[in-house]
Amino acid sequence: MADQYLESLEDLTGKVAVVTGGAASIGLETTILLARKGCTVYVASRNRTKATLAIDTAVARLSPDAKDRVIFHHLDLSSIPSALESANAFLSRKDARLDILIGNAAIMTPTYTLNPDGIESTFATNVLGHFAFITTLLPLLKKAENARVVVVNSLAYANVPAIDYGELTREKGEDGTSVMDLRRGFMRYGVSKLGLTYFTRELDKRLRDEGVKTIKVNTCHPGTASSSYSRMTRSVPTNHPSINLGIVSSTSLGNGSLSPLGRFVEYFIRTLVGLLDNTAADAAKTQVFLAAGKLVRDDDVHGEYWLPIFSWSMQYCGCRPEEVTKLAMDEVEQEKLWAFCEDLVGRARCGPAGCKA
Ligand SMILES: NC(=O)c1ccc[n+]([C@@H]2O[C@H](COP(=O)([O-])OP(=O)(O)OC[C@H]3O[C@@H](n4cnc5c(N)ncnc54)[C@H](OP(=O)(O)O)[C@@H]3O)[C@@H](O)[C@H]2O)c1
Repeated sequence: MADQYLESLEDLTGKVAVVTGGAASIGLETTILLARKGCTVYVASRNRTKATLAIDTAVARLSPDAKDRVIFHHLDLSSIPSALESANAFLSRKDARLDILIGNAAIMTPTYTLNPDGIESTFATNVLGHFAFITTLLPLLKKAENARVVVVNSLAYANVPAIDYGELTREKGEDGTSVMDLRRGFMRYGVSKLGLTYFTRELDKRLRDEGVKTIKVNTCHPGTASSSYSRMTRSVPTNHPSINLGIVSSTSLGNGSLSPLGRFVEYFIRTLVGLLDNTAADAAKTQVFLAAGKLVRDDDVHGEYWLPIFSWSMQYCGCRPEEVTKLAMDEVEQEKLWAFCEDLVGRARCGPAGCKA
């Protein structure tokens, strides 16, 4: 299966990719797969030390000659100016070239916070940061003969209502210690992924309207790999009355402690849920397929949402396109998302003095 999968990908020798969040979990496996096919991969990360260690891991799993092809690029998506700075730094590289851009980085937090631009942090990082970064790099992608943009999504996009843009800038705090906070964290994450579904479709539409057929923009759910979800759920105490199943000694929110039996049951449940996880290596395969699959070029796959296919034993068997929800198909909502992002990113591009008329 592994070889069959690698054979389904194009030879990427001489091509250049950027993977946001390419230094951890699914992103790191994405970096490794692309490099294995000969690609030069820029690992776009906010943390040089962590990324350098990840690059060493990647090279150790590849061949020594991959050393010069897996490269750190600083990117902090948490604010629009820092995302723009990173994209501009990439553009100003000598002989800058870009064939593949994978927007893989994402956050999910149980607390509601605003980023320095005054926007809810999950949406700011996952959507606005990527909007600023990807749209700034479009001129490079347009120069490539056969370019790909892959926006990493999640099934969570389908479980949220329409985006309330007023809600994204409201001052309000949560302490991140209750089950309701956890639920709101999932909602905010889902909203950001719905935003990315709109972004994918609108970017694809705009490129096609411009007559650009050489960039194929697609989005996908990667699978379920133990990482951000588990980190976020671990950060919320399990002693809330609604989930303590009556076996927890304290039900006071945020500061109670689990009884030994409660700790055992929690460990058991988390282990059981963990068994249903896919490996990060398998979860990387759908996004890499959209970034490099021969079929994507041959069948002109663009503007689509793809899902991985796993066997009963959780082995990766391939991937397929999936229809998105009615809400995600809504063209008015797609344009609204684009206008919201374009306005904020456009203002940041102009700087505090504003754009010259
Ligand atoms: N894991 C799953 O089960 C699952 C399911 C559905 C969808 N997905 C999607 O798959 C993608 C990868 O997920 P994952 O599970 O591998 O997540 P992860 O382990 O949490 O990794 C996320 C990556 O994003 C980076 N990142 C976070 N904030 C950033 C910022 N401000 N600027 C630059 N990079 C930033 C992180 O960098 P640091 O290392 O510096 O924090 C990390 O490399 C995400 O888009 C996620 O939504 C995952």
